[in-house]
Amino acid sequence: MGKPTFYITTPIYYPSDKLHIGHAYTTVAADAIARYKRQRGYDVMFLTGSDEHGQKIQRIAEEKGVSPKEYVDGIVAGFKKLWQLLHITNDDFIRTTEERHTRSVQKIFQALYDRGDIYKSEYEGWYCVPCETFWTERQVAEGNTCPDCGRPVELVKEESYFFRLSKYADRWFKFIEENPDFIQPASRRNEMISFVKSGLEDLCVSRTTFNWGIPVPMDPKHVIYVWIDALSNYITALGYGSEDESKYHRYWPADLHLVGKEIVRFHTIIWPIMLMALGLPLPKKVFGHGWLILESGKMSKSKGNVVDPVVLVDKYGVDAIRYYLLREISFGADGYYSEEALIRRINADLANDLGNLLHRTLTMIEKYCSGVVPEPGPAEAIDGELQAVAAAVPREVEETMEKLEISNALAAIWKLVGRANKYIDETTPWLLAKDEATRPRLQTVLYNLAEALRIIGILLVPYLPTVPEKIWKQLGLGEGVREVPWEEAEQWGGLVPGTRVQRGEPIFPRIDPEEALKADKEEKKVVEKVETGGERISIDEFARLDLRVVEVLAAERVEKSRKLLKLQVALGEEKRQVVAGIARYVEPEELVGKKLVLVANLQPAKLMGIESDGMILAASDDEDNLALLTVDRDIASGAKIS
Ligand code: ME8
Ligand code: MG
Repeated sequence: MGKPTFYITTPIYYPSDKLHIGHAYTTVAADAIARYKRQRGYDVMFLTGSDEHGQKIQRIAEEKGVSPKEYVDGIVAGFKKLWQLLHITNDDFIRTTEERHTRSVQKIFQALYDRGDIYKSEYEGWYCVPCETFWTERQVAEGNTCPDCGRPVELVKEESYFFRLSKYADRWFKFIEENPDFIQPASRRNEMISFVKSGLEDLCVSRTTFNWGIPVPMDPKHVIYVWIDALSNYITALGYGSEDESKYHRYWPADLHLVGKEIVRFHTIIWPIMLMALGLPLPKKVFGHGWLILESGKMSKSKGNVVDPVVLVDKYGVDAIRYYLLREISFGADGYYSEEALIRRINADLANDLGNLLHRTLTMIEKYCSGVVPEPGPAEAIDGELQAVAAAVPREVEETMEKLEISNALAAIWKLVGRANKYIDETTPWLLAKDEATRPRLQTVLYNLAEALRIIGILLVPYLPTVPEKIWKQLGLGEGVREVPWEEAEQWGGLVPGTRVQRGEPIFPRIDPEEALKADKEEKKVVEKVETGGERISIDEFARLDLRVVEVLAAERVEKSRKLLKLQVALGEEKRQVVAGIARYVEPEELVGKKLVLVANLQPAKLMGIESDGMILAASDDEDNLALLTVDRDIASGAKIS
């Protein structure tokens, strides 16, 4: 039977944006935990994947003129490449478009329906497309915007299936009380408790206004709401509901779902209740980490402030990027990303502290001991101090990793790095080398330094993917550090005297910040050029737009909306009704008689229940100014724009 199991997951990512360093952060953290658990002898199952359905993806694919599947295939291939680049050791990658997933999700939906926990009714309320989230009137923020992301929400009214969340509120509270560590950190637990206390409503779990999703088994004009689809990945990837459920039996319940703070709600309320309703065991822990933020705010593509991990890895190497992400940000809290801070960490912690320790130690072993780890001679009290730190550090790593304090685990390892560097300064080996009488003492010192480095190499395995091997190779210990059991880091004296070292290049060259940041600015320019080049459209694509001059015949406010105006416009002989989100910028009276620009061949939509047939064009800037597009001289309504 043997090993205990450890099942860890990241969220499955939306293929709607290019992945940025914020996404890499979640996955790198999960990878460090997975590698740590493997090192501790666990049979680890580490899962990541992609969340490929939903209205947002359907819309993007439509805009690009490709099928949703074609669109996601390309993006998901990029995800997989990025995870390879970052040396992510996931054991599986689940795509929600795979049959193993869709089939099992349909079974889950059917089972919930058969138990009476899913019923058909009508949904009327607000929906945020980018977040794929429903909001009640009460929850919607000012100006009909999403309380999470601040973008406009849409009013939707449709026949829908509902999941009886409300029925499980009492059981949920009981579970949370009995499992105080289920939601971490504790602050997020308190948030979730007050959220559920404010009232759980049944959840709308199907949509009919788009079709890029898994069909509801008993009513295929509906597709299953993305979050039911997405959350199920954690068990469908284990073969739940398939012919072979052996992995499910082996690994479920999950030991740890690692998620960003904005999706803790889905993972700690909807997901456990789904599992309760299915009669399945609940995961042991959901940890909500913070966001990586730039000075200009949370990274987002619309803000244009995303940091591309591929560019960073190319420039600084995978070990440096992983070290920075794991060390700089206290896991759980938000943290600022900056390239300056990254360079500071590389120079101080990696090049100076760790890199120099290795390089100095090996240089001295070459110079004074012909490149062979010496037999230690007489010991002194100061050796005991170094050894005491070496003995305490693995315990501290264990304690901090148990609490998922990854940054503190690295800080603990650097205590040993720091102590070893101080030991060099205190023992002054170059002076010991001058006198034949102090040679035996020199041997002790150099042995101890090399031994400390052997231990450091083992301890670094979960965090840095290539450096531990480089350290071991230079120490003459070969390439096997990743397979070495943890216990070998706990015992002083594992290094065998007589081992021939192989000093190499410094493992982390120093970075000149000015040079690096200058190059970065130039690179950015190039990247921008290439990217806009890549996104250009052909004249044929442009020609698909039917842009027309229209004359406003009448305009009025939409009741209960601050944003919307209802316009009647003339397009030659034709009359159209259009709803436009411009009420905060213009008075309806001002508009009558104006010539505006209309996208005339847009699919009609309903906004707050009102038909809108086309879209009025306007320009807006970051300062929330808005200007309507118009023509520079009079021209008949209906005139075509090209
Ligand atoms: O939410 N800093 O997918 P997603 C830190 N498909 N983490 C960040 C971040 C940042 N700047 N930006 C994003 C989804 N993330 C759903 C999940 S799970 C059943 C379905 C993190 O691609 C974010 O917090 O929008 C989340 O944990 C993950 O990236 C995926 O985000
Ligand atoms: Mg998100």
